[in-house]
Amino acid sequence: MKEKMARPFSMFSSSLLLHAMIICTMLSQSQGDNEFVRQPFRPIIHTPHHRSEAEPQQVHISLVGKEHVRVSWVTEKHAESVVEYGMASGKYTEKATGEHSSYQFFFYRSGRIHHVVIGPLKPSTAYFYRCSASGPEFSFKTPPDSLPIEFVVVGDLGQTEWTASTLKHVDSRDYDVFVLPGDLSYADTQQPLWDSFGRLVEPYASQRPWMVTQGNHEIESFPIIFPDGFRAYNSRWRMPYEESSSTSNLYYSFEVAGTHILMLGSYTHFDVDSDQYKWLRADLAKIERRRTPWVIAIVHAPWYNTNDAHQGEGESMRQAMEELLYKARVDLVFAGHVHAYERFTRIYDNEADSCGPMYVTIGDGGNREGLALTFKNPRSPLSLYREPSFGHGRLRIVNETHAHWAWHRNNDSDAFMADNLWIHSLSTTKSCWESSSVPHDEL
Ligand SMILES: *[C@@H]1O[C@H](CO)[C@@H](O)[C@H](O)[C@H]1NC(C)=O
Ligand SMILES: *[C@@H]1O[C@H](CO)[C@@H](O)[C@H](O)[C@H]1NC(C)=O
Ligand SMILES: [Fe+2]
Repeated sequence: MKEKMARPFSMFSSSLLLHAMIICTMLSQSQGDNEFVRQPFRPIIHTPHHRSEAEPQQVHISLVGKEHVRVSWVTEKHAESVVEYGMASGKYTEKATGEHSSYQFFFYRSGRIHHVVIGPLKPSTAYFYRCSASGPEFSFKTPPDSLPIEFVVVGDLGQTEWTASTLKHVDSRDYDVFVLPGDLSYADTQQPLWDSFGRLVEPYASQRPWMVTQGNHEIESFPIIFPDGFRAYNSRWRMPYEESSSTSNLYYSFEVAGTHILMLGSYTHFDVDSDQYKWLRADLAKIERRRTPWVIAIVHAPWYNTNDAHQGEGESMRQAMEELLYKARVDLVFAGHVHAYERFTRIYDNEADSCGPMYVTIGDGGNREGLALTFKNPRSPLSLYREPSFGHGRLRIVNETHAHWAWHRNNDSDAFMADNLWIHSLSTTKSCWESSSVPHDEL
């Protein structure tokens, strides 16, 4: 975990930075590409536990393979790791058991963190479920098994009043899967904030699968005691890494309805001789574009970024992995980290390239650090839309060839679609698969 990782923010400078950013946010006017006045800072929400101690809290679900879902939750007291579920409210025809664990972080001891995989489940179907045989009933809808499908993409969520409004906007229209490119709770070692975050997102994350990868705020490492970090993140946000032959919760891939999604790790090794790199190369080789015409990659620190914030932090990962993604004709790369929205053209190696991925930075979920207000000028011709505002993105993959991307800015209590475009899949772009354009060792 030493050199070649995107440079994390030091935990200790982050509170200074926080205050500086709050002041900037309050003083600054628009620095984006239009006249919209930047949203000012809003405070953190602490979400208390309202149920009894033994009752489940922080319920969230994630996809495990094509037909299964992992249900995760926390109880403060002993409770069984069991999920009862069925297709009608209150009628639980099925039951599955799983495992639980807890972790220690200095003087904090977590509750029991339960993970239970349920299924096989039918596609596009509502299920009702209850955890630990007590507490409220929850329900979710499984994603479709073929296109169309709609993803919500939003990074750097945090748990402020802006986070709450982003989540409300997300929820105001149906979608299938929530994809989070890192930086979840902004607990920054204050472990109870992980619990508070889990409770804040429960109404959403218990209803739709949340697929996450790590950001710098998940690291929480400490010399000698917790040198590897990710203790809370890996315990609470367990993702289906074994299913894609990954050996780490910090990177994995999953497939859903014609889409192959690579959840990469910006804060673990990614060099050519790293496990992640070898895993990525093998995972890309397994993709069948006939089955999954769309391929999407998620990182935390952006590889392309014209904001003043976090310049160069994704550069060593780009240098290590960009060629692999390019040769595999990955359609889209989403990043977080920079608290703004920015959309690029298709790029390979710092140049516009019609066979490269389209890059989008969407680290604008609403965290307590505020917005990254200043973009570099003159604007790079690769950057097509940039704006420091909170918001969320929606990727609706309509069919094998077409997807619609839309970015919705938080305009106070409303969401406003400020940017949108149609995207064509590279899998059906013939010129990108001709022998002259596909490098020889791939043929
Ligand atoms: C895919 O969707 C686009 C946009 O709706 C449409 O124009 C196109 O005809 C569709 N293609 C196929 C093969 O259905
Ligand atoms: C934002 O909301 C206000 C009040 O509802 C509305 O007047 C304005 O047009 C909106 N602007 C944008 C850019 O969404
Ligand atoms: Fe970040």
